Amino acid sequence: MHIVIGLNLINKNRYMRRVFIILCCCLINMACFGQSTSMASKPLMGWMSWNFFAEKVNEQELKEMATAMIQSGMVEAGYNYIFIDDGWQGGRDSKNNMIADPVKFPSGIKALADFLHEKGMKLGIYSDAAQLTCAGYTASLNFEEQDAKTFAAWGIDYLKYDYCNAPADSNTAKLRYQKMAEALKKTGRSIVFGICEWGERKPWNWAAGVGGQLWRTTHDIRDKWAKKPHEKWGLGILDILETNAKLNEFAGPGRWNDADMLVVGLYGKKGPSGDGGGIGCTDIEYQSQFSLWAMMCSPLYASNDIRHMNETTKSILLNKEVININQDALGIQAIQKLNDSTQTVFLKPLSNGDYAVAVLNKLDRSIPLLLDFSKLGLKENFQIRDLWEHKTLTKQELKKQMILSHQTKMFRLIKSNPL
Ligand code: GLA
Repeated sequence: MHIVIGLNLINKNRYMRRVFIILCCCLINMACFGQSTSMASKPLMGWMSWNFFAEKVNEQELKEMATAMIQSGMVEAGYNYIFIDDGWQGGRDSKNNMIADPVKFPSGIKALADFLHEKGMKLGIYSDAAQLTCAGYTASLNFEEQDAKTFAAWGIDYLKYDYCNAPADSNTAKLRYQKMAEALKKTGRSIVFGICEWGERKPWNWAAGVGGQLWRTTHDIRDKWAKKPHEKWGLGILDILETNAKLNEFAGPGRWNDADMLVVGLYGKKGPSGDGGGIGCTDIEYQSQFSLWAMMCSPLYASNDIRHMNETTKSILLNKEVININQDALGIQAIQKLNDSTQTVFLKPLSNGDYAVAVLNKLDRSIPLLLDFSKLGLKENFQIRDLWEHKTLTKQELKKQMILSHQTKMFRLIKSNPL
């Protein structure tokens, strides 16, 4: 009887249904793979080396970056990972153990992990499901168990596992990812597993099932707003948004759609993010990326030079009110309520009964903010908190608002305090 009533409730209420589906997936995952769903129960936060250093990644500058993350307040705000991307590898030793490049990492990776752990931070590393990585370095195919053991012995907390130089079919991808996930699990160390095959094989359908906690949904982000019609490649913020926003039903605690690195504060820096038309964005556009990635529960990996950030970049990356939306315990990726050529509106239910709403103006000119809560299915009265202005707005003030070109306005609708 109770079960029947419960199932009826779940059936009638969309959010209950969503929570129920996510719970079932987690249970299946745990049953099949013994994978702890407490791993990555919230979207990961940190700093990733690829956009800034590319292959020139090295221990000295990573330590500087970590120190700057602490001093700037980023670690306190939740950015606790340093993710070493491609280029750290120095091949294998006589026993086939993977080693770090001795010039870039003279003290070795374990020393760096120890340095970070002492500061309450974590370390991510990178490999690939083939013989060579995307940048042509030693990778893990056929050495999965050995490499997983090495990573665990070094104290690694996260592995980004790329898919360059590997066969295109989905079955091989699933098998190779599962093999590494199992090898990681066998080490007994909690190592979050990030699947990076760029969305080509629709990993949202299978990545959690083979042991991943997050999966990239698109090709690499470039430091630009959107791909221009004449450009052959190079995805911008808007292009990634269009794909990632539609995948909301697949996300939840321990299973995230990874929309790739934040380009906030890169300002057209040369290097990977500058390829493919990455000419840089305006601060308004960077602020939009941060808002949208937060709404979509994407991991928040900064990739700019933390050592030399201007005040605007800092105020974007350190907006605690926006970070709270990304890190909300319910872990529901925002639902796209409207998406036309003018604007996109997202709604994200939060664990305490509040909602987050984001409105993006896609046009090249300002438009009035026409936000009708009843069209979002919200009937109650809410206190309206502007998460970028850091103030509470009356309904009249809200109606007078304009949204600048490419700006995202973000609000928290606080249920408990009706106007
Ligand atoms: C791929 C990934 C990037 C980065 C590079 C490193 O392109 O998608 O995020 O890791 O490889 O070579």
